[in-house]
Amino acid sequence: MDRIAITGGAPLNGTIPIYGAKNSALKLQAAGLLSAEPVILENMPDLADTRFMTQLLASLGVEITWIKETRTLRMHAAEIASTIAPYDQVRKMRASFNVLGPLLARVGHATVSLPGGCAIGARPVDLHLKAFEAMGADIVIEQGYVKAAALRGLKGAEIEFPFVSVGATEHTMLAAVLAKGDTVLKNAAREPEIADLADCLNAMGAKVEGAGTSEINITGVTSLHGAKHPVVADRIEAGTYALAAAAAGGNVLLQGARFEHLQALIKVLRAAGVQVDAEARGLRIQRNGGRVQPVDFETEPYPGFPTDLQAQAMALLCFADGQSRIRETIFENRFMHAPELARLGAQIAVQGNEAVVTGVPKLLGAPVMATDLRASVSLVIAGLAAEGETIVNRVYHLDRGFERLEAKLAACGAQIERQKEEQ
Ligand code: UD1
Repeated sequence: MDRIAITGGAPLNGTIPIYGAKNSALKLQAAGLLSAEPVILENMPDLADTRFMTQLLASLGVEITWIKETRTLRMHAAEIASTIAPYDQVRKMRASFNVLGPLLARVGHATVSLPGGCAIGARPVDLHLKAFEAMGADIVIEQGYVKAAALRGLKGAEIEFPFVSVGATEHTMLAAVLAKGDTVLKNAAREPEIADLADCLNAMGAKVEGAGTSEINITGVTSLHGAKHPVVADRIEAGTYALAAAAAGGNVLLQGARFEHLQALIKVLRAAGVQVDAEARGLRIQRNGGRVQPVDFETEPYPGFPTDLQAQAMALLCFADGQSRIRETIFENRFMHAPELARLGAQIAVQGNEAVVTGVPKLLGAPVMATDLRASVSLVIAGLAAEGETIVNRVYHLDRGFERLEAKLAACGAQIERQKEEQ
């Protein structure tokens, strides 16, 4: 098992290319099941999670070609060979559950294992299943599997989500595009990845309006055709490197990052004393000297502060000149990075869904353990700014969501390398 060794203290200077968004790519991959013609995704990230999804799609009969040089994934689901997504595949990556809706919409039935995924809370899928039931699907859960059937096809429905769910919004869209009649999604999530999915589905001939707002209207069509679609830039990857540059200091251009998708983070960064400028090629982050200022924030559905950047922002605020309060409102168990950051000397008091971070002038490197995807990268950020050596163990979590992380940081002057973990 690999680990990452960082010698902290080097500022980051240079350009970091931002790749396509993991969280968008995974749903766009599921969309490949909806058409008998090829769906081509450009600007694809090459991650453990997207590879899991590729394997799952292949097992369902999708012909897949990955062209590394151009970051292009071609999916051709001429025929669906299987409608079963087994436990072993879904447990590794929660987003695999998203094949259920497309299979149900295209073939009329599917058997998909209940998901596993990051250890950041219960993360049920009840909203997904209620939406499919509202569209006329019969659903039973047996031995850890969801068995769904809509043998005469799904019917459009009006669905009001009781709270905002990214996954349920996307998954319902993935099914409703092929349902009979109109579907209205109320209290829908508004993440840029949802607008990205709608753009791809519309390029395939779907009729989706309002994605990116809290009401999405979908008029079902009988079939979808092939399309070519570029994956939207990863705002979480961009935000992570922005926070890394803020913590380590320096001057970094995040090439391809979208200013308009990162407003909540930019507000926090600026309040912390970090300079953020939108440029034609992306986002420039600068911090030279002086301590960062403390900032209070809470995570919220988009356009609020993303839960997927909470751990990374906490790492930055460990160095702040004062006390910051962070409230996590999306997932109930998402402060697992706090005790690991404390191993570096951070002062963090967690009570329920609130963390109080009392900034310290410096952290000292130490061996730490990655616990989930975003938590592990927060440890990398802390390590970049800490004094001495930090070893981040169990980095397979990182590989799920960050492509070439060490290479991108090293190219900006970070002293970081991947090592084989001792057995
Ligand atoms: C997606 C992202 C994840 C991000 C999260 C919130 C992907 C692959 N993952 O996850 O990185 O942190 O959005 O921005 O895109 N919930 C239920 N029942 C449901 C569905 C959700 O109770 O049926 C709860 C969840 O447990 C959580 C909250 O709703 O507390 C929000 O979850 P949701 O927005 O659905 O997150 P995901 O789609 O799983």
